[in-house]
Amino acid sequence: MGDARMRIVSVVGARPNFMKLAPLARELRTRSGVEHIVVHTGQHYDRNMSDTFFDDLGIPDPDINLGVGSASHAQQTARIMAAFEAVCLERKPDLVLVYGDVNSTVAAALVAAKLGIKVGHVEAGLRSRDWTMPEEINRVVTDRIADLLFTPSPDADDNLIAEGVEADRIHFVGNIMIDSLEFALPGARALAMAARLGLESGRYVVVTLHRPSNVDSEMTLKELVGALHEIAHETDVVFPVHPRTRQRLDDSNLVFDGARLHLMDPLRYVEMLSLVTEAGVVLTDSGGLQEETSYLSIPCVTARPSTERPVTVTQGTNTLVASRKGPIVESVNRSLGAARQAISVSIDKWDGGTAPRIVDVLEQEKRG
Ligand code: UD1
Repeated sequence: MGDARMRIVSVVGARPNFMKLAPLARELRTRSGVEHIVVHTGQHYDRNMSDTFFDDLGIPDPDINLGVGSASHAQQTARIMAAFEAVCLERKPDLVLVYGDVNSTVAAALVAAKLGIKVGHVEAGLRSRDWTMPEEINRVVTDRIADLLFTPSPDADDNLIAEGVEADRIHFVGNIMIDSLEFALPGARALAMAARLGLESGRYVVVTLHRPSNVDSEMTLKELVGALHEIAHETDVVFPVHPRTRQRLDDSNLVFDGARLHLMDPLRYVEMLSLVTEAGVVLTDSGGLQEETSYLSIPCVTARPSTERPVTVTQGTNTLVASRKGPIVESVNRSLGAARQAISVSIDKWDGGTAPRIVDVLEQEKRG
């Protein structure tokens, strides 16, 4: 890339992207010789799904917002591609960085690769091997066309090698989510969300559910709602509801009642982190929460048949259960009932130092 300043364009679009961008945006600001441009595709547009994350994580406002909004997968991906191609042609980046596994990730990677622009993928190599997940398709396609693959765990390296990726494209840098978590933890603790909501520390359940496989089928949604009611007989259940889930609940005939069942709008990053740090158990189908709970040594019950983050099961606090009332209630109650052991989880390179390791690789690339 020569001696000139390296122009890097980061592309983000959906909630889980923002905590992966934040540490890199901060680190890139400290290095000379780099110009960093942030493009928000507008895939997520609600204030509480997007803007608050920029505020809480200290990310400067996006330089460009493509404003694509919600649509079918093909339309959303196509709109991002058309709009992002124009950005690339105008700004001529040396490198495009994409994050995670959302539609914005694969769309931007495709555009850059076809224009001959180098692509770096942060959180590469994760595989659920569940091809019904849109995210799995996005992961595999993105990794196939990315030049630099930044992996969070050794299993991700193994997946890439097994798919024939050359070893020199793979960089095991650790989990960038943990950089954001460490950054926000003091503020999250100070917020004391549990006390504010009148919850007993270590005795409540935090719930997030939004995967299409869980919420788009009314039969499965009914099982999940049934499980929440059952758990809430005895225990406070806090459920910040994702917009997709909110729509499905509104479309269904399912009703929520019970004094210990607390439904609310999606929370800010620090609010959520604050609640999770004092939870007895987290019940989820999110990817990020499987990681955050493992790092924080909080038991996690994941309502999915598979995970692309196996270290959270083998080395962390995660348990996979079927999306059925019985297994969920049983698993959540077992975790709540177990005396809180002094679980101490330590996963290699989940240490808050991932962003500097990525930028070191980028600087080496520039020199090389
Ligand atoms: C997307 C990601 C998923 C990630 C999740 C986190 C893909 C394929 N999926 O799923 O990997 O875990 O984000 O949030 O990229 N909506 C709003 N306001 C918003 C955003 C969405 O109301 O700010 C509604 C829209 O009506 C939309 C629905 O939620 O139809 C789903 O949004 P979409 O971006 O399609 O996917 P997610 O389910 O959020």
